[in-house]
Amino acid sequence: MAASSPSAGSPDIRALFEQAYGSAPSIVARAPGRVEFIGNHTDYNGGAVLGAAIDRFVWVAAAPNAAGRFRLRSTSGSTTLERTAIPTTRLTGAEAWANYPIGVWHSLRDFNLPAPAGFDLLVHADLPAGAGLSSSAALELATALALLNLARPTAIAPEQLAALARQAENKYVGVPCGILDQGTSALGRVGQLVQIDCRTPAFSRVSLPAAAHLWVFNTREKHALIDGLYATRHQECLSAAKALGVKWLADLTPEQLAPLKPKLPPVLARRAEHIVAEHARVHATVVALQQNDLAAVGRLLTASHRSSQLLFENSTASLDQLVDLLTAHPAIYGARLTGGGFGGAVLALTQADFTAAQAAEILAPYTAAHGAPAETLHLQTADGACLAPNE
Ligand code: GLA
Repeated sequence: MAASSPSAGSPDIRALFEQAYGSAPSIVARAPGRVEFIGNHTDYNGGAVLGAAIDRFVWVAAAPNAAGRFRLRSTSGSTTLERTAIPTTRLTGAEAWANYPIGVWHSLRDFNLPAPAGFDLLVHADLPAGAGLSSSAALELATALALLNLARPTAIAPEQLAALARQAENKYVGVPCGILDQGTSALGRVGQLVQIDCRTPAFSRVSLPAAAHLWVFNTREKHALIDGLYATRHQECLSAAKALGVKWLADLTPEQLAPLKPKLPPVLARRAEHIVAEHARVHATVVALQQNDLAAVGRLLTASHRSSQLLFENSTASLDQLVDLLTAHPAIYGARLTGGGFGGAVLALTQADFTAAQAAEILAPYTAAHGAPAETLHLQTADGACLAPNE
């Protein structure tokens, strides 16, 4: 099994745009995917989270449309969506992907920022969709930068970019996500993790020691945020916080929650226990990273997975099998599901000399059980969303 090349070159998005629309784009933006390092479902609970922007990207090329039309196309599809006015209701079926860029257009207006009255837009990605690596947030951020700068260069702080992209997803796509994905994709840095205190939100960065490498194993099982159980978990967490009389579950320490758990229905008690302990694990992970104690970091990652598996119940048998196999190997510090859960991928933190051949050997029982290997990605950290230089 071959792992992805970390240095895979960027595509010629300008040439792809020209093929699609017959003339060159005025602007190209790119935004990275992300791995959720630790902090599972803590973001919309006022908690802390650590994410890494990764070297898999979404590119958006755009040009003004002189006729005031809105044309959107993706290199993964064969048709162009064309409207004379920006859609104001959600698109469905094969067009549903366009809700993200269209939502960003509306969100720019909500934030009193310029959004063009007509555009041609092309999306290209080397980031697997549905793997829990935030292709949607990357699409939102790259679209926001491209549309915002289409008429004239407009500076925007990465924090504001993340906020408007999140609003596009909450309000116009209809997913009640937190700030993790957009915040990490906007503020990512090579060699660093993005730390978000999601209450404010406040952003900072923590170094990822060079001796630790990130590998992702994608089950290719559906990771459905909209129609999946994500919204149910969101609602359960809000209900638990309300029943406990706190604004956010992350307001409570594990010690404070323990005597209160019997007040809650068992399902809500499990959800609350996961969030409160996970929030504490994020802070413990920051300390362990600062001390360069990768064994401790790994233990925290695996503990996070077990909590997802048993308390938050957002894991799957395939994700659990990957974690079981990976964590039995001495070259792997720890492993956990990354992202919303209910499918998607496992993140493993490994020693620097870990290889794809080792991964294939360790995961042979998984491959035999599923008839195919998990998609294997050896990822590097990356810088956050940016405009591509004009050539
Ligand atoms: C998805 C959401 C994020 C976050 C994670 C779970 O990626 O988009 O906001 O809630 O799930 O931690």
